[in-house]
Amino acid sequence: MPFSMNLLKRLQSAYSVVVLSGAGMSAASGIPTFRGRDGLWNQYRPEELATMEAFRRNPQLVWEWYCWRRDLIRGAKPNAGHLALAEMERYFPEFAVITQNVDNLHQTAGTRNITELHGNIMRNLCINTKCSISSEVLDREVARMGKTPARCPECGSLVRPGVVWFGESLPEAAIARAQTFSAEAEVFFSAGTSSTVAPASSLPYMAKGNGAYVVEINPEETPLSSVADERVAAGAHEVFPKLLQVIQKLRQRVR
Ligand code: OAD
Ligand code: ZN
Repeated sequence: MPFSMNLLKRLQSAYSVVVLSGAGMSAASGIPTFRGRDGLWNQYRPEELATMEAFRRNPQLVWEWYCWRRDLIRGAKPNAGHLALAEMERYFPEFAVITQNVDNLHQTAGTRNITELHGNIMRNLCINTKCSISSEVLDREVARMGKTPARCPECGSLVRPGVVWFGESLPEAAIARAQTFSAEAEVFFSAGTSSTVAPASSLPYMAKGNGAYVVEINPEETPLSSVADERVAAGAHEVFPKLLQVIQKLRQRVR
């Protein structure tokens, strides 16, 4: 796999490395992406499935769609890309994975420093943001109700999946962390994302503005392609294992 001399030099000396991942990171684990030919948003309308208005209008439809996605994700395993990143973390004093994915696969693979920008699909939340119900109670209620939308046993409101929907803001702590890591990065990888959804899409620009070497890993071009210092036009599940081999030759483990 062709990595440039510039990238290798940067990797050899870097203190801080950041990886921003998107749906393409999990494609090889069998989880569909959102955009592109086989993408979910090609088949379904986001405004009917991934907004609070849609959920209030038709909780049954939205809940069933999330049950289907949860089942898919429950059956999925981390791929070689996730596993390589978990190992790569050991070679840099600061190594952060920032993900737009809600599938928990970076965590399952063993990555420790993970920031979830769009939540986690397995989490259940009461839509009443003032409600103090515990997640254990909600999880039990959801399990009991199956494919029927559950109600919060404390306040009677609907129970929703813990993902960020269109029109909602990202968890404040997560975006703040992601911005700090991005500004500090010496090498920044953007992997498996169409780079079209803000504010995640702004992170590589923030990194580059602060001197990072930006590498895009994606078989297809995106709006970031012309801005990145380097592009690797292949799947993340192929590129990261190769990159790990290179790093293992260049560096010693730090943890
Ligand atoms: P997209 O579905 O928009 O983009 C996936 C990208 O992955 C595309 O650019 C593909 O070319 C690329 N790709 C496909 N297979 C790949 C592979 N094996 N390796 C590397 N790249 C590959 O997904 P995101 O950019 O993650 O929001 O989408 C951003 C957000 O939009 C999602 O988090 C979701 C969606 O609406 C929420 O759920 C809030
Ligand atoms: Zn409640």
